[in-house]
Amino acid sequence: MQITVGIITISDRASEGAYADLGGPALREAAVKNGWNVLSEAVVPDEMIRIQETIHAFSAQGCGLILTTGGTGIATRDVTPEAIRGLMRVELPGFGEVMRAESMKITPNAILSRNLAAVVGQALVIALPGKPSGAVECLSFVTGAIPHGVALAQRVPTSC
Ligand code: MTE
Repeated sequence: MQITVGIITISDRASEGAYADLGGPALREAAVKNGWNVLSEAVVPDEMIRIQETIHAFSAQGCGLILTTGGTGIATRDVTPEAIRGLMRVELPGFGEVMRAESMKITPNAILSRNLAAVVGQALVIALPGKPSGAVECLSFVTGAIPHGVALAQRVPTSC
């Protein structure tokens, strides 16, 4: 099954053009290396409505996997988990647990990320940290479960 991906960078400063978006391109490269088809990309500010609109738009465009980077921490503007929880049908707590546990072997700051995964409509949405290397690392820790997770989210017949 071909996995179709949407990538959303969530950052006030990147969306204003105050600095270049590095997280989105890093995730695009990782997605291509995994053999996935990157269909949609966006850079949005840390605003609940903008995040939610973009997830819905990417899902409507046919993305079975939506990766977000940024807004998972504890800054006052960090609202990515709340935006996703406001849309989701079910959360998949194992993704956040594994991403944090594996990342703790790299940096103690990993515990400050509220990484998560959830099913929104027929898409698997995975919220990754904002630091480009951290986003790619976290994605790598859960990649093995993504094909089956996307198939289940899209209700494609599949065997366990
Ligand atoms: N996870 C990994 N694997 N590598 C990292 O460098 N950075 C952490 C954490 N998770 C990091 C990581 C840091 S410093 C923060 S503040 C949190 O993710 C939240 O990042 P965000 O608010 O940019 O999403």
